[in-house]
Amino acid sequence: MGENRRIVVTSALPYANGDIHIGHLVEYIQTDFWVRFQKMRGNECVYVCADDTHGTPIMIRARKEGITPEELIARSHAEHLRDFTDFQIKFDNYYTTNSPENRELSERIYKAAEAKGYITRRTTPQLYCGHCKMFLPDRFVKGVCPKCGAADQYGDSCDKCGATYGAEELGSPKCTTCGGTPVVKDSEHLYYELEPQHEYLEKWIPGHTTSDVSNKLLEWFREPLRGWCISRDAPYFGFEIPGCKDKYFYVWVDAPVGYIASLKNAGRFEMWNDENVELYHFIGKDIIRFHCLFWPGMLNAAGFKGPTKVFVHGFLTVNGEKMSKSKGTFVSARTYLDNLPPEALRYYYAAKLGGTTDDMDLNLADFVQRVNSDLVGKITNIASRGGQMLQKKLGGMLGTMDDEGRALVRKCIDAGETVAKHYEDRRFNQAVVEICRLADAANEYFDRREPWKTVKSDEEATRTTLTAALNAFRIIAIYLKPVLPAYADKAMKLFGESEWNWESAARTKENCALGEYEYLASRIDPKQVEAMIEAAKVKPGESGEVSHESRASKNKSAAKSAVEAPALKPEIAFGDFEKLDLRVGVVESCETVPKSSKLLKFVLDAGPLGKRTIFSGIRGAYPEPEKLVGREVVFVANLAPRKMSVGVSEGMILYAGEPGTNGGVLSPTAEAGGGTQAT
Ligand code: MSP
Ligand code: ZN
Repeated sequence: MGENRRIVVTSALPYANGDIHIGHLVEYIQTDFWVRFQKMRGNECVYVCADDTHGTPIMIRARKEGITPEELIARSHAEHLRDFTDFQIKFDNYYTTNSPENRELSERIYKAAEAKGYITRRTTPQLYCGHCKMFLPDRFVKGVCPKCGAADQYGDSCDKCGATYGAEELGSPKCTTCGGTPVVKDSEHLYYELEPQHEYLEKWIPGHTTSDVSNKLLEWFREPLRGWCISRDAPYFGFEIPGCKDKYFYVWVDAPVGYIASLKNAGRFEMWNDENVELYHFIGKDIIRFHCLFWPGMLNAAGFKGPTKVFVHGFLTVNGEKMSKSKGTFVSARTYLDNLPPEALRYYYAAKLGGTTDDMDLNLADFVQRVNSDLVGKITNIASRGGQMLQKKLGGMLGTMDDEGRALVRKCIDAGETVAKHYEDRRFNQAVVEICRLADAANEYFDRREPWKTVKSDEEATRTTLTAALNAFRIIAIYLKPVLPAYADKAMKLFGESEWNWESAARTKENCALGEYEYLASRIDPKQVEAMIEAAKVKPGESGEVSHESRASKNKSAAKSAVEAPALKPEIAFGDFEKLDLRVGVVESCETVPKSSKLLKFVLDAGPLGKRTIFSGIRGAYPEPEKLVGREVVFVANLAPRKMSVGVSEGMILYAGEPGTNGGVLSPTAEAGGGTQAT
């Protein structure tokens, strides 16, 4: 083989605030195919990745779980790595963006841009939530679309009419975390100006990605390039910007730098800027802008080499539709593994991926059918039929091939460079087609020779047949090794070998013993797929995506039932219950409300939360409300404030049972005051 190449490969860094799912796996699995292929070819290939740990969603999620962001990202890191490992995805380093290497490199790359005058300051109006004490990112605010008037739209764009706008343009904005109304507040931000690199990037882009991607990007170059806001206000989980107190790097600044940091942590930093090293990023089509515009600009300004190529893939659909939590098609890596073997998905993705930006469909019926008929029925069958017969009937010894057998094996060997070219160009689907064609030829040879018949009359002729069929299988398994590494390892042991690289396919095995036949792959039962979908189904109300509005109204009806309706409400999931932040407050005052026969006005002393005014419809249960003064009550502290005709109610006092009979406010200590205590 010629000169060995030196290659660095990355997959996009998954966010630390979510599970790895089968959509992500489209990317990590195909990168793994390519890296394993490069390694088999004798190239030096280093595959680095990391968790993307910074940003508001991670901070908010940790807050909600009552843990630190560091604890959250440590847990995700372990879970992600376990999922990847169980899917046989093998990184040379899987690091984190919250690392000293990354801080140092991010600062260095930022300072280089600053020194070139690319960093500017602009004051922009933004939504600020006084209750959460933070500026709200677009995805943390919802309101009325300024263009079409649709309600319940995020702060960046409208689902209904497709308009894009600034969050401060939304009508009746609401903070999705607390339900409060944010205010518009000015804040100064840092911008990374791209226009100074207009020409550089315009020239750079076409050579470094596919033409469809580059043509799209180049449309922006007809006008001056817009600057990119790279700062976020505290509180933010990330790296503070040097020289800017309380300003943090937007997560997308330090995320790609995380590629270099991971390489550095692997002890291979020098590879990044080495002219002789090729560098490839595998990414999904949603993050092209960051990788083909901002990132090469940042690198160039700082004197770092840019990627040789950015390989962009499309999105996964399941049965022709977007993955859906309610339909059970939003399947996490773990839920998949609980029900099905990783090889099946790896094989299916290989059979479907052609190295384009087209979306890829996982059709579940097709998935079962392809794995069963091709991987098991066609490919594995050669080894299981041939291997077991040779073991059981012929003492496990391979013999010598005849001309016809040799022709079959020659055909397999000759296909090697075609298959290799498909892998190199990421046409994994074509590689699989080619491999299946070889398996067809091997099966055809096997069936024509009818070894199950000849074994009764002519052992040596049978041995000749099986030797060729098994040699063909051996080559096929070598070609499949990038896709099915564990499977190939077992096949390798069957032939008593200790290492398979691409060149191993050119050899043949004759007149030697075959190892013990180990089970390689088994058929999948559609029931396993059904069980997986069932397990992935999020029942209504259990979803992590419930909007603030539906959450609030759910709380409202729950409270209503406690007060008015004796019948039980439908069962709720633990996740619903968990959303309630229950606190104890001491009743400071409790009085009737003029013109209302139902309401009592409470003022609670809620300790660290301060005073809370709450209107509660339980007047019927407390004819002498002043007796509640001094009483400890339990209340929902994180309920969205509700504007009522009599004032704003800032929570909900818990009350169980039926008013006036055996009900009462929930109270940890019932001694003080009167009323009934409920359990
Ligand atoms: N954290 C950023 C990437 C930073 S890279 C410096 C991010 N993370 S992600 O978890 O949302 O996505 C990680 C990768 O998975 C991205 O390349 C994304 O395109 C890909 N996919 C996420 N969902 C996908 C599908 N449903 N289908 C195919 N790929 C998908 O973006
Ligand atoms: Zn808020």
